[in-house]
Amino acid sequence: MQHPRCERTSAWAALAGHYQAHGKDFKLVEAFARDATRFDAFCIDAPEVFADLSKNLLDVATRTFLLDLARECGIEARRDAMLAGAAINTTEGRAVLHTALRAPRGQGLFSDEVHAVLDAMLGFAETMRDTARSGIAHVVNIGIGGSDLGAQMVVPALQAFAHPELTFHFVSNVDGHDIAPLLKTLDPARTLFIVASKTFTTQETMANALAAKAWFLSTPTPLRADRPPRGSRKAAETHSVGSGGRMKQRDIAKHFVATTTNVEAAAEFGITTTFGFWDWVGGRYSLWSAIGLPIAIAIGADRFRELLDGAHAMDRHFAQAPAAKNLPLQLGLLDVWYRNFHGFTSRSVAPYHQGLKRLPAYLQQLEMESNGKCVDLAGAPLAYATSPVVWGEPGTNGQHAYFQMLHQGTDVIPVEFILVQHPTHELAQQHTMLLANGLAQAQALMLGKTSEEALAERAPTASSVIDGQVLARHRSFPGNRPSTTLLLERLTPRALGALIAMYEHRVFTSGALWGINSFDQWGVELGKALCSALLPRLANGNTEGLDASTAGLLRRLRAQ
Ligand code: F6P
Repeated sequence: MQHPRCERTSAWAALAGHYQAHGKDFKLVEAFARDATRFDAFCIDAPEVFADLSKNLLDVATRTFLLDLARECGIEARRDAMLAGAAINTTEGRAVLHTALRAPRGQGLFSDEVHAVLDAMLGFAETMRDTARSGIAHVVNIGIGGSDLGAQMVVPALQAFAHPELTFHFVSNVDGHDIAPLLKTLDPARTLFIVASKTFTTQETMANALAAKAWFLSTPTPLRADRPPRGSRKAAETHSVGSGGRMKQRDIAKHFVATTTNVEAAAEFGITTTFGFWDWVGGRYSLWSAIGLPIAIAIGADRFRELLDGAHAMDRHFAQAPAAKNLPLQLGLLDVWYRNFHGFTSRSVAPYHQGLKRLPAYLQQLEMESNGKCVDLAGAPLAYATSPVVWGEPGTNGQHAYFQMLHQGTDVIPVEFILVQHPTHELAQQHTMLLANGLAQAQALMLGKTSEEALAERAPTASSVIDGQVLARHRSFPGNRPSTTLLLERLTPRALGALIAMYEHRVFTSGALWGINSFDQWGVELGKALCSALLPRLANGNTEGLDASTAGLLRRLRAQ
């Protein structure tokens, strides 16, 4: 069934009217004063994630109109089509089935294939985790974008569950400053390289993999006292070279593995251990597939399965929970309300957990590569805005950097706080401080401070000669700035799996409302093509036919 574009629905017109009549002047403090049940009414208890949406600029009527919008845009039908394996990535003619990767054995689409690879990959992960036998101390993931950001985010997030003798490194940038210093610190005999690339053609990944291979074959493994004696069972199983020797071509097969859909290209590289996946797994949705191998090596097979289980629980919630209490759906609707009616251009993510320090970067790809589009599914230009800018830093660091702008800047930027109730460390007092900071920031954004309140306060660090009224204006806060707070009980693999899946489905929801293809990424192609054309020009200096700016820069870069 054909669904109308969002701006052609009657709900869109109703939302526009509602925004003018109530939305633009909506006052959070007054809304709480009017309605004692507001907190409960706008909280959602989803699997592993409790969400407080009550500090957002919406009321019951807004929610009703947004749900009308979801209905008119056919969100449920679109969601069901995705889950059923329809080729909703129309420009590439592909299904979008990352949910199948976390369905229990026998329950999802392609279950046999999915679980065969999962079993093999988890078996391999356990072999590497047996460090006495494997001899591995360092795992280097070489990949970029979706073949990097998921594992790079999850491994430190689950540090408390990670193998204590393994160190993980993530190399992504084609800039040699990424891999070169790392290689200087490694012993080839104790290092496992994972070349992670869906296509096995990505320029950055191939360049880094070749650099790693060249280093591997040319670097002697240092003499070490902690090595098992030569000829012992462990030594024989672990290494084909003795202490102080060089690795051989055949050792590539032991120290390099690939996670890819392009097994032939990996074999050509010399890699014989390959864990595959399928074209229906998008790069930025792939951490649940073989691309999650570094995670599996870090936390082990059982914990990796818990990560999948958490995501699956959120999948069930997204598929079955009633619309008013469906967390990804409600967040996606809120995103549309803010982007298209309030005109907010960005959203800040503030995880109050140091382990989630890479979550904002992960979400940037997930959301902006998915929904940064300007045509609809039929290729027609859009008359409305799509993806906001997503950015952030872990709390409390962000407070001492850009929160000034969130509180007193001229733009309103909704903030998403992520708080974790129980830490995995012993510093209870510091954890209480962390939680208090997160709560206080959300409170401050909402409550603000009037000039009168500021005038009544002492300000010991203020100038003694400044006029009191002027100072009070500098020290007042507009308030009424929206935020969402997401609470996890603990940052376990299961909770993290649920949290990530929540974000995936939220991005699906807003993308489906906007009527765009959230699963292609043609926007990265032009730069890739132009880079290939510029590579020889940088070598030979030919600037013929180039625009004047690029030509001028190229000449300067080539100057001695
Ligand atoms: O940046 C474009 C992109 O295609 C991403 O979507 C993808 O995650 C990344 O490049 C890496 O691609 P691959 O896994 O094929 O190396």
